[in-house]
Amino acid sequence: MSSVAVVGSLNIDLVIRAPHCPHKGETVIGGAFGMAGGGKGSNQALAAARLSAKSHIIGCVGSDDFGRRLKNVLTENGVDCSHLQTINNAPTGTAVITVTDAGESSIIISQGANSLLDDGAMTTASEIFESSDAALFQMESPPQTVAAGLKLSRQHGCRTFLSAEPPFSLPDEVWENIDYLILNEKALSFYAGHKQHKSVTSMADEILSRGVKCLAVTQSAKGGMIFEKGGENFSFEAFDIRSVDTTGARDAFCAGFCVGLCEGMPLKRAAKFASACGALACTKIGAHPSMPWRHQVSALLGEAHGDDYEL
Ligand code: RIB
Repeated sequence: MSSVAVVGSLNIDLVIRAPHCPHKGETVIGGAFGMAGGGKGSNQALAAARLSAKSHIIGCVGSDDFGRRLKNVLTENGVDCSHLQTINNAPTGTAVITVTDAGESSIIISQGANSLLDDGAMTTASEIFESSDAALFQMESPPQTVAAGLKLSRQHGCRTFLSAEPPFSLPDEVWENIDYLILNEKALSFYAGHKQHKSVTSMADEILSRGVKCLAVTQSAKGGMIFEKGGENFSFEAFDIRSVDTTGARDAFCAGFCVGLCEGMPLKRAAKFASACGALACTKIGAHPSMPWRHQVSALLGEAHGDDYEL
C-alpha cells in the first residue's frame, strides 16, 4: 500500500446549479443548492484514500460545524487526521461554486483557517513525511508554507507533487524541490510567462529547465501532456464520459497520478490511471461525493482498454 501526505486546504463547498455564470451586475435565477466537502487538499486526501493509499491530511479547519463535518467525512473514509489542526477564532474555509448546465464550474474561496497553515505545521508533520512515499501540495495554502513543505518533505525522502492551482508566484528555489508538477494550461502560461513562449512544449521546456523533474499539463476534455526531463514527452487521452460537474476533477487526477506513481506504475500508465480518476469525478455533483473509488477506476479502465490492461 502506498502512503501519501497531502498538505492543503479544506473547504465546505456551497454549490448552486445555474444556466450560466453571472456576468457583471447580473442576477441569475439558479437551480438546486447543495453543500459538500471540498478544498483541493481535502479532495486529494479523500481521493488517495478511496484509491487504496494510506492517506494523511495536513491542514487547518475552524472550530465550527463545517470543520467538524470535514473531519468526520475524512476520518470515515480512512484519511488520517492526526495532523489536521482545529483553529479557534477562525472559520473553516468556504467555497461558493456555480455549476452550469454544461457541467462547468467556477469557484470563489474564502480561505478562513486555511490561511493559517504555517511553516511550524510542516515541521510538526516531519514524522508523516518520514513515513510517506509522497507529499502532495496545492496552492490554496500560503505559498511560503508550500515552499517550506516541499523542501522538508523532499529532505525526508518523499517524492514531491505540486498541483500549482490557483497560480501564485513562488520563490525561485521552489522549482528544484518539485518532482512532479501538475498544471492546467492557464497555470502553465502564468508560471512559464506566456509572452516569451508560443507553444505548450516551449513553456514546458522552460519549467523543466528550472529543476522540475516531470510536468503534467491537464487539458480538460482534450486529455493532457506529460513532459519528463531526459525522458519521453507524450499525450494522454481523456475518457469519453457525460460530465455533470467538473468540480474536483483535477484533484482526482492529481491523487490518481500520485498514487499510481507511488505504486510503481510507469509514467504512461499512471497518466491513464489519473485520467480515469478525473473522468469519474465529472460524473457526479460535488467534490467529495465525486472522488472515485478504486474499483470504479478499475472498471472504467477495464471497459476502455480491454482486459489486458492490468492495474
Ligand atoms: O478543486 C476543487 C475545489 O476547489 C473545490 O472543492 C473548492 O473547495 C476549491 O478548493
